Amino acid sequence: MKPITTESHEHDPPADAGWDYSPAPERTPVPIDESYGLFIDGSMRAPLSRKRFETINPATEDVLSSIADAGAKDVDAAVQAAKKAQGPWARLKASERAKYLYRIARRIQERSRELAVLETMDGGKPIKESRDVDLPLTAQHFFYHAGWADKLAYAFPGRTPKPIGVCGQIIPWNFPLMMAAWKLAPALACGNTCVLKPAETTSLTALKLAEILQEVDLPPGVVNIVTGAGATGAALAEHPDVRKVAFTGSTEVGKVLARSVAGTSKKLTLELGGKSPNIIFADAAIDQAVEGVVSSIWFNQGHVCCAGSRLFVEESVVDEVVDKLRHRMQSLRVGDPLDKNTDIGAINSAEQLKTIERYVDAGEHEGAIMHEFSGQALPDKGYWHRPCFFTGVQPSHVIAREEIFGPVLSVMTFRTPEEAISRANNTPYGLAAGVWTNTGSKVFEIARKLDAGVVWCNTYNTFDAASPFGGFKESGFGREGGRHGLQSYVKF
Ligand code: NAI
Ligand code: MG
Repeated sequence: MKPITTESHEHDPPADAGWDYSPAPERTPVPIDESYGLFIDGSMRAPLSRKRFETINPATEDVLSSIADAGAKDVDAAVQAAKKAQGPWARLKASERAKYLYRIARRIQERSRELAVLETMDGGKPIKESRDVDLPLTAQHFFYHAGWADKLAYAFPGRTPKPIGVCGQIIPWNFPLMMAAWKLAPALACGNTCVLKPAETTSLTALKLAEILQEVDLPPGVVNIVTGAGATGAALAEHPDVRKVAFTGSTEVGKVLARSVAGTSKKLTLELGGKSPNIIFADAAIDQAVEGVVSSIWFNQGHVCCAGSRLFVEESVVDEVVDKLRHRMQSLRVGDPLDKNTDIGAINSAEQLKTIERYVDAGEHEGAIMHEFSGQALPDKGYWHRPCFFTGVQPSHVIAREEIFGPVLSVMTFRTPEEAISRANNTPYGLAAGVWTNTGSKVFEIARKLDAGVVWCNTYNTFDAASPFGGFKESGFGREGGRHGLQSYVKF
Protein backbone atom coordinates (compact mmCIF):
# COMPACT_ATOMS: atom_id res chain seq x y z
CA MET A 1 0.00 0.00 0.00
CA LYS A 2 1.26 3.47 -0.82
CA PRO A 3 1.82 5.83 2.13
CA ILE A 4 -1.01 8.25 2.79
CA THR A 5 0.07 11.82 2.12
CA THR A 6 -1.80 14.85 3.25
CA GLU A 7 -0.48 17.17 0.56
CA SER A 8 -2.24 17.25 -2.74
CA HIS A 9 -2.75 20.07 -5.16
CA GLU A 10 -6.41 20.91 -5.37
CA HIS A 11 -6.77 19.87 -8.97
CA ASP A 12 -4.58 16.79 -8.97
CA PRO A 13 -6.43 13.53 -8.94
CA PRO A 14 -5.82 12.05 -5.47
CA ALA A 15 -4.91 8.72 -7.09
CA ASP A 16 -1.90 10.38 -8.73
CA ALA A 17 -1.00 12.22 -5.55
CA GLY A 18 -0.36 8.99 -3.73
CA TRP A 19 -3.69 8.51 -2.01
CA ASP A 20 -4.76 5.01 -1.36
CA TYR A 21 -7.27 3.37 0.92
CA SER A 22 -7.01 0.16 2.85
CA PRO A 23 -9.79 -2.16 1.79
CA ALA A 24 -12.75 -2.10 4.18
CA PRO A 25 -14.93 -4.98 3.04
CA GLU A 26 -18.29 -5.59 4.63
CA ARG A 27 -18.18 -9.09 6.09
CA THR A 28 -21.64 -9.65 7.53
CA PRO A 29 -22.49 -13.23 6.54
CA VAL A 30 -25.68 -13.62 4.55
CA PRO A 31 -27.27 -17.03 4.22
CA ILE A 32 -28.38 -17.55 0.61
CA ASP A 33 -30.28 -20.72 -0.30
CA GLU A 34 -29.11 -22.70 -3.31
CA SER A 35 -32.53 -22.26 -4.85
CA TYR A 36 -35.74 -20.38 -4.11
CA GLY A 37 -39.39 -21.05 -4.82
CA LEU A 38 -42.32 -18.69 -5.21
CA PHE A 39 -44.01 -17.07 -2.21
CA ILE A 40 -47.67 -17.94 -2.65
CA ASP A 41 -50.39 -18.09 -0.01
CA GLY A 42 -47.93 -17.71 2.83
CA SER A 43 -45.42 -20.40 1.90
CA MET A 44 -42.59 -21.05 -0.53
CA ARG A 45 -43.60 -23.31 -3.42
CA ALA A 46 -41.78 -24.91 -6.32
CA PRO A 47 -42.85 -23.34 -9.62
CA LEU A 48 -45.48 -25.25 -11.62
CA SER A 49 -43.59 -24.07 -14.71
CA ARG A 50 -40.59 -26.15 -13.51
CA LYS A 51 -38.43 -23.42 -15.01
CA ARG A 52 -35.57 -21.65 -13.28
CA PHE A 53 -32.84 -19.13 -13.95
CA GLU A 54 -29.69 -18.07 -12.16
CA THR A 55 -29.06 -14.82 -10.40
CA ILE A 56 -25.48 -13.60 -10.31
CA ASN A 57 -23.37 -11.09 -8.48
CA PRO A 58 -22.58 -8.50 -11.19
CA ALA A 59 -19.33 -7.54 -9.45
CA THR A 60 -17.89 -11.06 -9.64
CA GLU A 61 -20.15 -12.92 -12.10
CA ASP A 62 -20.52 -15.63 -9.40
CA VAL A 63 -23.84 -17.45 -9.36
CA LEU A 64 -25.65 -16.63 -6.13
CA SER A 65 -28.76 -18.77 -6.39
CA SER A 66 -31.29 -20.43 -8.65
CA ILE A 67 -34.55 -18.48 -8.97
CA ALA A 68 -37.98 -19.81 -9.98
CA ASP A 69 -39.28 -18.57 -13.32
CA ALA A 70 -43.01 -18.27 -12.71
CA GLY A 71 -45.31 -19.18 -15.58
CA ALA A 72 -48.93 -18.18 -16.18
CA LYS A 73 -50.25 -20.96 -13.86
CA ASP A 74 -47.98 -19.81 -11.05
CA VAL A 75 -49.10 -16.23 -11.53
CA ASP A 76 -52.70 -17.41 -11.47
CA ALA A 77 -52.13 -19.29 -8.20
CA ALA A 78 -50.63 -16.14 -6.67
CA VAL A 79 -53.50 -13.95 -7.87
CA GLN A 80 -56.08 -16.45 -6.56
CA ALA A 81 -54.36 -16.49 -3.16
CA ALA A 82 -54.41 -12.70 -3.11
CA LYS A 83 -58.06 -12.62 -4.14
CA LYS A 84 -59.07 -15.01 -1.38
CA ALA A 85 -57.12 -13.03 1.23
CA GLN A 86 -58.40 -9.62 0.19
CA GLY A 87 -61.84 -9.60 1.86
CA PRO A 88 -60.61 -10.68 5.30
CA TRP A 89 -57.60 -8.32 5.07
CA ALA A 90 -59.84 -5.37 4.21
CA ARG A 91 -62.29 -6.27 7.00
CA LEU A 92 -59.53 -6.53 9.59
CA LYS A 93 -59.65 -3.59 11.99
CA ALA A 94 -57.47 -0.90 10.41
CA SER A 95 -55.36 -0.55 13.54
CA GLU A 96 -54.61 -4.29 13.31
CA ARG A 97 -53.50 -3.89 9.69
CA ALA A 98 -51.26 -1.10 10.90
CA LYS A 99 -49.66 -3.43 13.45
CA TYR A 100 -48.57 -5.79 10.70
CA LEU A 101 -46.97 -2.93 8.79
CA TYR A 102 -45.18 -1.73 11.92
CA ARG A 103 -43.92 -5.25 12.51
CA ILE A 104 -42.63 -5.53 8.95
CA ALA A 105 -40.86 -2.18 9.32
CA ARG A 106 -39.23 -3.18 12.60
CA ARG A 107 -38.12 -6.54 11.27
CA ILE A 108 -36.58 -4.84 8.24
CA GLN A 109 -34.65 -2.59 10.61
CA GLU A 110 -33.51 -5.55 12.68
CA ARG A 111 -32.31 -7.44 9.61
CA SER A 112 -31.15 -4.35 7.72
CA ARG A 113 -27.43 -5.12 7.60
CA GLU A 114 -28.05 -8.56 6.13
CA LEU A 115 -30.54 -7.14 3.63
CA ALA A 116 -28.14 -4.36 2.61
CA VAL A 117 -25.33 -6.82 1.97
CA LEU A 118 -27.61 -9.03 -0.10
CA GLU A 119 -28.89 -6.03 -2.08
CA THR A 120 -25.31 -5.13 -2.88
CA MET A 121 -24.32 -8.69 -3.82
CA ASP A 122 -27.28 -9.28 -6.12
CA GLY A 123 -27.45 -5.83 -7.73
CA GLY A 124 -23.94 -4.32 -7.64
CA LYS A 125 -24.67 -1.09 -5.75
CA PRO A 126 -22.14 0.14 -3.16
CA ILE A 127 -22.77 -1.12 0.36
CA LYS A 128 -22.68 2.42 1.75
CA GLU A 129 -25.74 3.20 -0.38
CA SER A 130 -27.73 0.05 0.26
CA ARG A 131 -26.92 0.39 3.97
CA ASP A 132 -27.49 4.16 4.34
CA VAL A 133 -30.12 4.88 1.68
CA ASP A 134 -32.07 1.84 0.48
CA LEU A 135 -32.64 0.11 3.80
CA PRO A 136 -33.57 3.14 5.93
CA LEU A 137 -35.97 4.33 3.23
CA THR A 138 -37.48 0.85 2.91
CA ALA A 139 -38.23 0.67 6.63
CA GLN A 140 -39.42 4.28 6.63
CA HIS A 141 -41.98 3.52 3.93
CA PHE A 142 -43.57 0.75 6.00
CA PHE A 143 -43.54 2.88 9.17
CA TYR A 144 -45.08 5.82 7.35
CA HIS A 145 -47.91 3.80 5.78
CA ALA A 146 -48.56 1.92 9.01
CA GLY A 147 -49.49 5.33 10.35
CA TRP A 148 -52.05 5.92 7.60
CA ALA A 149 -53.82 2.54 7.84
CA ASP A 150 -56.38 3.65 10.45
CA LYS A 151 -56.46 7.31 9.37
CA LEU A 152 -57.52 6.99 5.74
CA ALA A 153 -60.71 8.93 6.43
CA TYR A 154 -58.50 11.94 7.23
CA ALA A 155 -56.57 11.51 3.98
CA PHE A 156 -59.79 11.85 2.02
CA PRO A 157 -62.09 14.10 4.08
CA GLY A 158 -65.80 13.68 3.40
CA ARG A 159 -65.27 10.55 1.31
CA THR A 160 -65.16 6.85 2.10
CA PRO A 161 -62.03 5.25 0.66
CA LYS A 162 -62.36 1.54 -0.16
CA PRO A 163 -59.68 -0.91 -1.26
CA ILE A 164 -59.39 -1.71 -4.96
CA GLY A 165 -58.65 -5.45 -4.63
CA VAL A 166 -55.69 -7.41 -5.94
CA CYS A 167 -52.72 -5.27 -7.01
CA GLY A 168 -50.18 -6.56 -9.54
CA GLN A 169 -46.89 -4.77 -8.87
CA ILE A 170 -43.87 -4.96 -11.17
CA ILE A 171 -40.61 -3.42 -10.07
CA PRO A 172 -37.11 -2.77 -11.47
CA TRP A 173 -33.58 -3.67 -10.40
CA ASN A 174 -32.17 -0.29 -9.40
CA PHE A 175 -33.73 -0.10 -5.89
CA PRO A 176 -35.13 -3.61 -5.46
CA LEU A 177 -36.19 -3.63 -1.82
CA MET A 178 -37.08 0.03 -1.69
CA MET A 179 -39.31 -0.31 -4.75
CA ALA A 180 -40.97 -3.33 -3.13
CA ALA A 181 -41.74 -1.16 -0.10
CA TRP A 182 -43.01 1.73 -2.25
CA LYS A 183 -45.45 -0.68 -3.88
CA LEU A 184 -46.50 -2.90 -0.98
CA ALA A 185 -46.80 -0.50 1.95
CA PRO A 186 -49.50 1.85 0.58
CA ALA A 187 -51.42 -1.03 -1.01
CA LEU A 188 -51.56 -2.96 2.25
CA ALA A 189 -52.38 0.09 4.35
CA CYS A 190 -55.43 0.69 2.15
CA GLY A 191 -56.70 -2.90 2.53
CA ASN A 192 -55.56 -4.34 -0.81
CA THR A 193 -53.64 -7.55 -1.33
CA CYS A 194 -50.61 -7.87 -3.60
CA VAL A 195 -48.74 -9.95 -6.10
CA LEU A 196 -45.25 -8.50 -6.45
CA LYS A 197 -42.84 -9.31 -9.27
CA PRO A 198 -39.24 -8.27 -8.66
CA ALA A 199 -36.81 -7.71 -11.55
CA GLU A 200 -35.08 -10.84 -12.82
CA THR A 201 -31.55 -9.69 -11.91
CA THR A 202 -32.46 -8.74 -8.33
CA SER A 203 -34.97 -11.18 -6.83
CA LEU A 204 -33.10 -12.10 -3.66
CA THR A 205 -34.06 -9.32 -1.29
CA ALA A 206 -37.73 -9.70 -2.25
CA LEU A 207 -37.42 -13.38 -1.33
CA LYS A 208 -35.84 -12.41 2.02
CA LEU A 209 -38.76 -10.06 2.48
CA ALA A 210 -41.02 -13.10 2.05
CA GLU A 211 -39.21 -14.64 5.05
CA ILE A 212 -39.92 -11.47 7.03
CA LEU A 213 -43.60 -11.59 6.08
CA GLN A 214 -43.69 -15.13 7.48
CA GLU A 215 -41.86 -14.05 10.63
CA VAL A 216 -44.46 -11.36 11.34
CA ASP A 217 -47.33 -13.80 10.66
CA LEU A 218 -48.83 -11.74 7.87
CA PRO A 219 -52.01 -13.63 6.90
CA PRO A 220 -51.32 -15.99 3.96
CA GLY A 221 -52.10 -14.55 0.53
CA VAL A 222 -51.96 -10.89 1.58
CA VAL A 223 -48.59 -10.58 -0.18
CA ASN A 224 -47.41 -13.05 -2.84
CA ILE A 225 -44.06 -12.81 -4.60
CA VAL A 226 -43.56 -14.29 -8.05
CA THR A 227 -40.12 -14.19 -9.64
CA GLY A 228 -39.39 -14.23 -13.36
CA ALA A 229 -38.71 -11.93 -16.29
CA GLY A 230 -40.91 -9.95 -18.69
CA ALA A 231 -43.28 -12.82 -19.51
CA THR A 232 -44.10 -13.27 -15.80
CA GLY A 233 -44.75 -9.53 -15.51
CA ALA A 234 -46.99 -9.59 -18.58
CA ALA A 235 -48.99 -12.55 -17.23
CA LEU A 236 -49.51 -10.66 -13.98
CA ALA A 237 -50.60 -7.41 -15.65
CA GLU A 238 -52.96 -9.25 -17.97
CA HIS A 239 -54.59 -11.41 -15.29
CA PRO A 240 -58.31 -10.59 -15.23
CA ASP A 241 -58.53 -10.69 -11.42
CA VAL A 242 -55.85 -8.05 -10.98
CA ARG A 243 -57.65 -4.76 -10.28
CA LYS A 244 -54.66 -2.47 -10.29
CA VAL A 245 -51.29 -2.56 -12.02
CA ALA A 246 -48.39 -0.57 -10.60
CA PHE A 247 -45.14 -0.47 -12.55
CA THR A 248 -41.72 1.11 -12.25
CA GLY A 249 -39.27 0.57 -15.10
CA SER A 250 -38.61 1.50 -18.70
CA THR A 251 -40.89 3.77 -20.72
CA GLU A 252 -40.96 1.05 -23.36
CA VAL A 253 -42.54 -1.55 -21.04
CA GLY A 254 -44.73 1.16 -19.51
CA LYS A 255 -46.27 1.75 -22.92
CA VAL A 256 -46.84 -2.01 -23.39
CA LEU A 257 -48.64 -2.11 -20.03
CA ALA A 258 -50.76 0.92 -20.85
CA ARG A 259 -51.91 -0.87 -24.00
CA SER A 260 -52.60 -4.15 -22.19
CA VAL A 261 -54.71 -2.40 -19.52
CA ALA A 262 -56.58 -0.17 -22.00
CA GLY A 263 -60.26 -1.11 -22.33
CA THR A 264 -60.35 -2.86 -18.93
CA SER A 265 -61.46 -1.36 -15.64
CA LYS A 266 -57.99 -1.88 -14.17
CA LYS A 267 -56.28 1.04 -12.56
CA LEU A 268 -52.73 1.80 -13.65
CA THR A 269 -49.82 3.84 -12.32
CA LEU A 270 -46.49 4.10 -14.15
CA GLU A 271 -43.18 5.41 -12.90
CA LEU A 272 -40.91 5.42 -15.93
CA GLY A 273 -37.65 6.84 -17.12
CA GLY A 274 -36.21 10.32 -17.06
CA LYS A 275 -33.63 12.73 -18.43
CA SER A 276 -33.65 15.06 -15.51
CA PRO A 277 -31.93 18.45 -15.60
CA ASN A 278 -29.74 20.06 -12.98
CA ILE A 279 -29.50 23.83 -13.42
CA ILE A 280 -26.61 25.72 -11.84
CA PHE A 281 -26.85 29.51 -11.75
CA ALA A 282 -23.75 31.65 -11.40
CA ASP A 283 -24.81 32.80 -7.94
CA ALA A 284 -25.03 29.25 -6.55
CA ALA A 285 -22.68 27.87 -3.91
CA ILE A 286 -20.60 26.10 -6.57
CA ASP A 287 -18.93 23.49 -4.36
CA GLN A 288 -22.28 22.46 -2.96
CA ALA A 289 -23.82 22.37 -6.44
CA VAL A 290 -21.00 20.21 -7.79
CA GLU A 291 -21.45 17.83 -4.87
CA GLY A 292 -25.16 17.66 -5.71
CA VAL A 293 -24.37 16.89 -9.34
CA VAL A 294 -21.92 14.17 -8.28
CA SER A 295 -24.58 12.46 -6.21
CA SER A 296 -27.29 13.02 -8.80
CA ILE A 297 -25.54 11.22 -11.65
CA TRP A 298 -22.86 8.99 -10.18
CA PHE A 299 -24.93 7.72 -7.25
CA ASN A 300 -25.86 4.05 -7.80
CA GLN A 301 -23.85 3.99 -11.09
CA GLY A 302 -26.48 6.31 -12.57
CA HIS A 303 -29.06 3.53 -12.26
CA VAL A 304 -31.58 6.05 -10.99
CA CYS A 305 -34.78 7.01 -12.77
CA CYS A 306 -34.46 10.60 -11.53
CA ALA A 307 -30.68 10.83 -12.16
CA GLY A 308 -29.61 14.38 -13.02
CA SER A 309 -28.21 13.28 -16.36
CA ARG A 310 -28.33 16.71 -18.04
CA LEU A 311 -26.39 19.51 -16.40
CA PHE A 312 -27.09 23.09 -17.46
CA VAL A 313 -24.54 25.62 -16.20
CA GLU A 314 -24.75 29.39 -16.52
CA GLU A 315 -22.07 30.28 -19.04
CA SER A 316 -20.02 32.57 -16.77
CA VAL A 317 -19.24 29.75 -14.31
CA VAL A 318 -18.98 26.77 -16.64
CA ASP A 319 -15.16 26.57 -16.52
CA GLU A 320 -15.17 26.58 -12.74
CA VAL A 321 -17.91 23.96 -12.56
CA VAL A 322 -16.26 21.67 -15.13
CA ASP A 323 -12.92 21.99 -13.34
CA LYS A 324 -14.43 21.08 -9.98
CA LEU A 325 -16.48 18.30 -11.49
CA ARG A 326 -13.40 16.75 -13.06
CA HIS A 327 -11.50 17.01 -9.80
CA ARG A 328 -14.34 15.49 -7.81
CA MET A 329 -14.85 12.70 -10.35
CA GLN A 330 -11.18 11.70 -10.04
CA SER A 331 -11.54 11.34 -6.27
CA LEU A 332 -14.34 8.78 -6.52
CA ARG A 333 -13.65 5.19 -5.51
CA VAL A 334 -14.80 2.73 -8.15
CA GLY A 335 -14.79 -1.01 -7.51
CA ASP A 336 -15.85 -3.71 -5.06
CA PRO A 337 -19.39 -2.78 -4.03
CA LEU A 338 -18.94 -4.54 -0.68
CA ASP A 339 -16.04 -2.22 0.21
CA LYS A 340 -17.33 0.53 2.51
CA ASN A 341 -15.12 3.10 0.73
CA THR A 342 -16.66 2.43 -2.67
CA ASP A 343 -18.61 5.24 -4.30
CA ILE A 344 -19.38 3.53 -7.60
CA GLY A 345 -20.09 -0.18 -7.77
CA ALA A 346 -20.86 -2.63 -10.55
CA ILE A 347 -23.25 -2.13 -13.44
CA ASN A 348 -26.32 -4.28 -12.81
CA SER A 349 -26.04 -6.57 -15.83
CA ALA A 350 -23.98 -7.28 -18.94
CA GLU A 351 -26.94 -6.01 -20.96
CA GLN A 352 -27.13 -2.68 -19.14
CA LEU A 353 -23.35 -2.26 -19.53
CA LYS A 354 -23.70 -2.69 -23.29
CA THR A 355 -26.45 -0.06 -23.37
CA ILE A 356 -24.24 2.42 -21.52
CA GLU A 357 -21.25 1.72 -23.78
CA ARG A 358 -23.40 2.22 -26.84
CA TYR A 359 -24.43 5.66 -25.60
CA VAL A 360 -20.88 6.68 -24.73
CA ASP A 361 -19.76 5.67 -28.24
CA ALA A 362 -22.64 7.66 -29.71
CA GLY A 363 -21.60 10.71 -27.67
CA GLU A 364 -18.03 10.55 -28.97
CA HIS A 365 -19.20 9.81 -32.48
CA GLU A 366 -21.44 12.88 -32.50
CA GLY A 367 -18.51 15.06 -31.47
CA ALA A 368 -18.99 15.66 -27.76
CA ILE A 369 -15.85 15.63 -25.60
CA MET A 370 -15.58 12.87 -23.03
CA HIS A 371 -13.94 13.40 -19.64
CA GLU A 372 -13.21 10.06 -18.08
CA PHE A 373 -12.29 8.84 -14.64
CA SER A 374 -8.62 7.84 -14.51
CA GLY A 375 -8.33 6.52 -10.96
CA GLN A 376 -8.08 2.93 -9.75
CA ALA A 377 -7.98 -0.01 -12.15
CA LEU A 378 -11.25 -1.89 -12.39
CA PRO A 379 -11.60 -5.52 -11.31
CA ASP A 380 -11.02 -8.14 -14.02
CA LYS A 381 -14.35 -9.82 -13.64
CA GLY A 382 -17.80 -8.28 -13.40
CA TYR A 383 -19.52 -5.40 -15.20
CA TRP A 384 -17.99 -1.97 -14.76
CA HIS A 385 -18.25 1.45 -16.27
CA ARG A 386 -16.02 4.36 -15.32
CA PRO A 387 -17.87 7.53 -14.34
CA CYS A 388 -17.59 10.16 -17.04
CA PHE A 389 -19.06 13.39 -18.35
CA PHE A 390 -19.32 15.04 -21.70
CA THR A 391 -18.82 18.69 -22.60
CA GLY A 392 -19.47 20.19 -26.04
CA VAL A 393 -22.90 18.54 -25.99
CA GLN A 394 -25.59 19.80 -28.35
CA PRO A 395 -29.28 19.45 -27.39
CA SER A 396 -29.73 17.32 -30.51
CA HIS A 397 -27.11 14.76 -29.43
CA VAL A 398 -28.48 11.39 -28.46
CA ILE A 399 -26.68 11.59 -25.07
CA ALA A 400 -28.64 14.79 -24.35
CA ARG A 401 -31.99 13.29 -25.29
CA GLU A 402 -32.21 9.64 -24.28
CA GLU A 403 -32.08 7.94 -20.91
CA ILE A 404 -28.68 6.24 -20.49
CA PHE A 405 -29.15 4.78 -17.00
CA GLY A 406 -25.43 4.79 -16.33
CA PRO A 407 -22.74 7.05 -14.78
CA VAL A 408 -22.67 9.37 -17.80
CA LEU A 409 -23.38 13.11 -17.54
CA SER A 410 -23.99 15.63 -20.34
CA VAL A 411 -22.90 19.19 -19.57
CA MET A 412 -24.48 22.12 -21.44
CA THR A 413 -24.69 25.86 -20.84
CA PHE A 414 -27.25 28.68 -20.79
CA ARG A 415 -27.21 32.47 -20.63
CA THR A 416 -30.60 33.48 -19.25
CA PRO A 417 -33.13 31.87 -16.90
CA GLU A 418 -35.60 31.64 -19.82
CA GLU A 419 -33.07 29.69 -21.85
CA ALA A 420 -32.38 27.38 -18.89
CA ILE A 421 -36.09 26.63 -18.52
CA SER A 422 -36.75 26.01 -22.19
CA ARG A 423 -33.69 23.78 -22.55
CA ALA A 424 -34.50 21.85 -19.38
CA ASN A 425 -38.09 21.28 -20.53
CA ASN A 426 -37.02 20.25 -24.03
CA THR A 427 -37.39 16.51 -23.38
CA PRO A 428 -40.17 13.93 -23.61
CA TYR A 429 -39.56 13.17 -19.92
CA GLY A 430 -40.55 15.05 -16.75
CA LEU A 431 -39.54 13.18 -13.63
CA ALA A 432 -37.25 15.43 -11.60
CA ALA A 433 -35.05 18.53 -11.72
CA GLY A 434 -32.52 20.34 -9.58
CA VAL A 435 -32.04 24.10 -9.26
CA TRP A 436 -28.92 25.60 -7.68
CA THR A 437 -28.97 29.30 -6.78
CA ASN A 438 -28.64 31.54 -3.76
CA THR A 439 -31.60 33.68 -4.83
CA GLY A 440 -34.79 32.48 -3.18
CA SER A 441 -37.12 34.20 -5.65
CA LYS A 442 -35.34 32.51 -8.56
CA VAL A 443 -35.88 29.11 -6.95
CA PHE A 444 -39.65 29.59 -6.85
CA GLU A 445 -39.83 31.17 -10.28
CA ILE A 446 -37.85 28.38 -11.97
CA ALA A 447 -39.40 25.50 -10.02
CA ARG A 448 -42.86 26.65 -11.07
CA LYS A 449 -41.90 26.63 -14.74
CA LEU A 450 -40.14 23.27 -14.87
CA ASP A 451 -42.19 20.29 -16.12
CA ALA A 452 -41.05 17.85 -13.47
CA GLY A 453 -42.77 15.83 -10.77
CA VAL A 454 -40.07 16.71 -8.25
CA VAL A 455 -37.93 19.84 -8.19
CA TRP A 456 -35.08 19.84 -5.71
CA CYS A 457 -33.60 23.20 -4.73
CA ASN A 458 -29.96 23.29 -3.61
CA THR A 459 -30.13 19.54 -3.01
CA TYR A 460 -30.77 16.40 -5.05
CA ASN A 461 -32.04 12.85 -4.53
CA THR A 462 -33.61 13.71 -1.21
CA PHE A 463 -36.46 11.33 -0.44
CA ASP A 464 -39.08 11.05 2.22
CA ALA A 465 -42.04 8.70 2.49
CA ALA A 466 -44.28 11.69 3.18
CA SER A 467 -43.34 13.41 -0.07
CA PRO A 468 -45.05 12.31 -3.30
CA PHE A 469 -42.78 11.15 -6.13
CA GLY A 470 -43.70 10.64 -9.78
CA GLY A 471 -43.54 12.10 -13.25
CA PHE A 472 -45.09 14.05 -16.07
CA LYS A 473 -45.12 13.32 -19.80
CA GLU A 474 -43.28 10.10 -20.72
CA SER A 475 -42.00 9.71 -17.16
CA GLY A 476 -45.41 8.30 -16.26
CA PHE A 477 -48.36 9.16 -14.06
CA GLY A 478 -49.50 8.58 -10.51
CA ARG A 479 -47.58 9.41 -7.34
CA GLU A 480 -45.87 7.27 -4.74
CA GLY A 481 -45.48 8.45 -1.17
CA GLY A 482 -47.43 10.92 0.88
CA ARG A 483 -51.18 11.39 0.85
CA HIS A 484 -51.10 11.57 -2.97
CA GLY A 485 -49.63 8.08 -3.15
CA LEU A 486 -52.56 6.61 -1.19
CA GLN A 487 -54.93 7.79 -3.87
CA SER A 488 -53.60 5.13 -6.27
CA TYR A 489 -54.70 2.37 -3.90
CA VAL A 490 -58.27 3.37 -3.03
CA LYS A 491 -61.58 3.77 -4.81
CA PHE A 492 -64.64 5.68 -3.64
P1 NAI B 1 -37.69 -3.15 -17.90
O1 NAI B 1 -38.68 -2.05 -17.95
O2 NAI B 1 -37.70 -4.18 -18.96
O3 NAI B 1 -37.84 -3.93 -16.49
C1 NAI B 1 -38.56 -3.48 -15.38
C2 NAI B 1 -39.48 -4.58 -14.86
O4 NAI B 1 -40.47 -4.87 -15.84
C3 NAI B 1 -38.78 -5.91 -14.59
O5 NAI B 1 -39.37 -6.50 -13.45
C4 NAI B 1 -39.11 -6.71 -15.83
O6 NAI B 1 -39.08 -8.10 -15.63
C5 NAI B 1 -40.53 -6.27 -16.13
N1 NAI B 1 -40.97 -6.44 -17.51
C6 NAI B 1 -40.23 -6.48 -18.65
N2 NAI B 1 -41.02 -6.63 -19.73
C7 NAI B 1 -42.29 -6.69 -19.28
C8 NAI B 1 -43.57 -6.84 -19.90
N3 NAI B 1 -43.69 -6.93 -21.22
N4 NAI B 1 -44.68 -6.84 -19.12
C9 NAI B 1 -44.58 -6.73 -17.79
N5 NAI B 1 -43.41 -6.60 -17.15
C10 NAI B 1 -42.28 -6.58 -17.87
O7 NAI B 1 -36.26 -2.49 -17.78
P2 NAI B 1 -34.84 -3.13 -18.21
O8 NAI B 1 -34.96 -3.88 -19.49
O9 NAI B 1 -34.31 -3.87 -17.05
O10 NAI B 1 -33.98 -1.81 -18.46
C11 NAI B 1 -34.07 -1.13 -19.70
C12 NAI B 1 -34.03 0.36 -19.50
O11 NAI B 1 -35.16 0.77 -18.75
C13 NAI B 1 -32.84 0.89 -18.72
O12 NAI B 1 -31.73 1.07 -19.53
C14 NAI B 1 -33.39 2.17 -18.18
O13 NAI B 1 -33.25 3.18 -19.15
C15 NAI B 1 -34.86 1.90 -17.96
N6 NAI B 1 -35.18 1.59 -16.55
C16 NAI B 1 -35.82 2.54 -15.80
C17 NAI B 1 -36.09 2.30 -14.47
C18 NAI B 1 -36.76 3.30 -13.61
O14 NAI B 1 -36.59 3.26 -12.40
N7 NAI B 1 -37.56 4.19 -14.14
C19 NAI B 1 -35.69 1.04 -13.82
C20 NAI B 1 -35.07 0.08 -14.71
C21 NAI B 1 -34.82 0.39 -16.02
MG1 MG C 1 -28.23 -10.50 -9.60
